[in-house]
Amino acid sequence: MDKRAFQFSPVQRYIDRIHEELLDLNDGAVADYIPELTRADPSWLGIAMVTVDGHVYQVGDSRQSFTIQSISKAITYGLALEDRGLDQVLSKVGVEPSGEAFNSISLEPDTGRPMNPMINAGAIATTGLIEGKPDAPPMQRILETFGRYTGRPMEIDETVYRSESDTGHRNRAIAHLLFGHGILDRTPEEVVDLYFRQCSILVTARDLAMIGACLANNGVNPVTGVVALQARYVEKVLSVMSTCGMYDFSGGWIYNVGMPAKSGVGGGIMAVLPGQFGLGVFSPRLDAKGNSVRGIEACKRLSKDFSLHLFHVARSTSATVMRQVYDCAKRTSRRRRNAAELAVLAAQGHRIRVYELQGELLFGSAESVGVEILSELARVDYLVLDLKRVIGTDQASILVLSELCMRIADAGKRLFFTDSKNLYRFRKHLQGNAYRGPEPGPLHFDDTDHAVEWCENQLIGEADTTGVDTSVADLSHQYLCAAMTGDELEALRQAGREHEIKAGSRIFNAGDCAESMFFIFSGEVEVWIDTGAGHHLRLTSLGPGMVFGEVALVNRKRRTANVSAVTDTRCLELRFDDIPEALRVKMLMSMASHFANKIERDTQLIQQLA
Ligand code: DON
Repeated sequence: MDKRAFQFSPVQRYIDRIHEELLDLNDGAVADYIPELTRADPSWLGIAMVTVDGHVYQVGDSRQSFTIQSISKAITYGLALEDRGLDQVLSKVGVEPSGEAFNSISLEPDTGRPMNPMINAGAIATTGLIEGKPDAPPMQRILETFGRYTGRPMEIDETVYRSESDTGHRNRAIAHLLFGHGILDRTPEEVVDLYFRQCSILVTARDLAMIGACLANNGVNPVTGVVALQARYVEKVLSVMSTCGMYDFSGGWIYNVGMPAKSGVGGGIMAVLPGQFGLGVFSPRLDAKGNSVRGIEACKRLSKDFSLHLFHVARSTSATVMRQVYDCAKRTSRRRRNAAELAVLAAQGHRIRVYELQGELLFGSAESVGVEILSELARVDYLVLDLKRVIGTDQASILVLSELCMRIADAGKRLFFTDSKNLYRFRKHLQGNAYRGPEPGPLHFDDTDHAVEWCENQLIGEADTTGVDTSVADLSHQYLCAAMTGDELEALRQAGREHEIKAGSRIFNAGDCAESMFFIFSGEVEVWIDTGAGHHLRLTSLGPGMVFGEVALVNRKRRTANVSAVTDTRCLELRFDDIPEALRVKMLMSMASHFANKIERDTQLIQQLA
């Protein structure tokens, strides 16, 4: 991605403007209860945003280091959940907002359990749950975890640590209270020291945005691809950030800004818009509640101007994810069909329906897609759900789609999900759940074209077009030979060379010289192109009575596609130079009228599809 693109992106220009405007906002004061924090320059202001695609936008003092302070609590809460699991952590720390200041002794009267992990008491209890490993004491594990979030090695500001440790008597008292209530299973001094160290880890606004982006990206660092937090705990961390992350301003914050966030007395605010981006703002001037004044303002404006509020309803319905629906009476697979077969498909093709879906499939959209499909089920026997443009599914949409699959199988109909190779969780779920219908199963076909061909073959098979064996043909079935007499056909046979080609063999390659054409007597060949990365795109499939390589008879241009035998194939190769002149003319005439009909049919199709 060309880095210059970001400079001119609307997002970069927007945060540049916000930064400019907020330099005039000078309310609040630098924290002073930890003496070392007073050394911060109150005019510092840095804003950064990192998207789940790993795009980084930043402005101002976004690379200025400062201590993370309480923002560290969100990360250590996630680590404690990974170490101890939900039940044990919940037995030690609650999830209820205290509505009080960050350093309030908000403990439940009977258990002494801190109300939530975002206030100091809860954070100290949480830090006390982080385990040491044989090769990594707790502090090393905390630093390594922070490094997975930020994508770089982290270090502690020893002077700030020392300063807080020398003055952190209230936190020490809280730790002793917690120890007294049996909340800590290590000594209060050991745990509070660990807490002071985690609060003194040096970060930048860019780091905060990266941390937020990891949480927005289901726990994965969007730049390094490293898992910073197990996906199952992301929603837990975001939940306590939403309800408690801004302390006794959490209500006003979620009301006005609408993003899970966490602030720190070092002047940082880390906010998250799940599925979209992480935001980091740094400005040391704090309001009375200990939140960065400019930080709050920057987040408020971004949320308002871009409608980023979490509860800003974005409808997720079939209308948003249903890209296209069509049946196969008009739009058939790329397999070339003879006239009898085309007639069957024109008459019966409506029983095959293709639904092209797109975007993120969520409960709402999957549910309404399901309703739409079931409402049409009486008229359809074969359904293909093309997932090529679906970028993701969530647990709910996976359950809805797999239930839909079972229901359709129970109704004796066939459903295929195609182009789903990137939807691992969906495929795993479907493969894990006992599909009760006949083979091929719902995930059998990689692409819609082959799935539709299979459905067409069922309709053609049912129709038994001619009652005669169409698996073998002779030259008289060839459209190029339509105007020829028996003798002329014999002359042509004599001029050609018959081949028995094994299934899987390549007959010719794109780029080869074109000196002949091939009439298929039996078997099947596929005409395809290489779309890179080993992907093949089928252009068409041909069977008995069909010809390939004939277009070069007109212009002798090199082959434009590859042709391979799908099954053992018997065909007649006819070199252009061996065709008697009179027959060549007849062939060219037949070809011209064939393509004229095809153009007419395609034009009608485009008009109908438009
Ligand atoms: O424990 C303390 O007081 C500090 N280390 C962290 C407090 C903090 O960041 C509160 N946030 N607004």
